[in-house]
Amino acid sequence: MARKKIALIGAGNIGGTLAHLAAQKALGDIVLFDVVDGVPQGKALDLAQCGPVEGFDVNLKGSNDYADIAGADVIIVTAGVARKPGMSRDDLLGINLKVMKAVGEGIKTQAPGAFVICITNPLDAMVWALREFSGLPHHMVCGMAGVLDSARFRHFLADEFKVSVKDVNAFVLGGHGDTMVPVIEYSTVAGIPVPDLIKMGWSTQERIDAIVQRTRSGGGEIVALLKTGSAYYAPATSAIEMAEAYLYDQKRLLPCAVNLTGQYGVSDLYVGVPVILGAGGVERVVEIELSPSAKANFQVSVDAVKELLAACKGIDPSLA
Ligand code: APR
Repeated sequence: MARKKIALIGAGNIGGTLAHLAAQKALGDIVLFDVVDGVPQGKALDLAQCGPVEGFDVNLKGSNDYADIAGADVIIVTAGVARKPGMSRDDLLGINLKVMKAVGEGIKTQAPGAFVICITNPLDAMVWALREFSGLPHHMVCGMAGVLDSARFRHFLADEFKVSVKDVNAFVLGGHGDTMVPVIEYSTVAGIPVPDLIKMGWSTQERIDAIVQRTRSGGGEIVALLKTGSAYYAPATSAIEMAEAYLYDQKRLLPCAVNLTGQYGVSDLYVGVPVILGAGGVERVVEIELSPSAKANFQVSVDAVKELLAACKGIDPSLA
């Protein structure tokens, strides 16, 4: 059986890390695409030279030509500009919208059967625009944000409770940004919900509130430290988890930005909710019961995404 083909659009920090992870896990042959000449080729060659040491046999190719992504099974999009200190994700809107147009058209012509995961920010607007420009079915296009946001939440909770990250499950809903909604009722240590852990004296409401706030601004904290770019290790590993769910038909229940068609009272909008990811792409949206406060926060998030979409339509009338 021929190997699967993984196309990575954008060969920057996240793109390079994705290529390394995908190669180590032998997910398939890898094409790194970028508009900058030399960078995808150089990274592909460098990574291919890890093969003899790490023992992977996949082919890696760098390219500036969309023809090279033809027939890709999975496409992960990080093309665009990353956030600089002081820049909000929304400032990126105008620049990255143009990039999504070029990428969407490339995917439409070369790989219309692919499962597409978008990472480019502002995520909820960019994944929607990418779907519009590519014309792919909605269930084959999703955005990576919730897996990363919940990984950040899980890391902070494990640290707070002094337990293994393996035993911490966390749930984060809504848009990727300051309006994301960490749901503590559905966040557990080996099945014990966080509110119960507070009652058991493992932490306090104040400390959990501070962790929730830190999770919401988790991306910004890293931007402020790095000064020249944004996070890339955890975003890359989160997207790879989603790609594996699709490639291996794992039926994972993961929080992803997907198109809603009435679930949670929302239609025609990409926003982060729990879904089942498997060989059929986004196979099912899981509607969980939200507390009144989580519901109100989710609505704030939805409204923020709606504003971004309106701004996109203002910038590019073909989206209206
Ligand atoms: N087509 C393909 N690649 C492009 C295009 C385009 N039209 N425009 C820019 N790129 C490439 C850049 O040349 C660069 O190599 O996208 C890459 C982006 O890489 P980085 O600047 O290193 O950004 P990265 O940290 O990888 O983040 C990418 O993901 O998390 C989001 O906010 C982040 O939107 C940003 C994206």
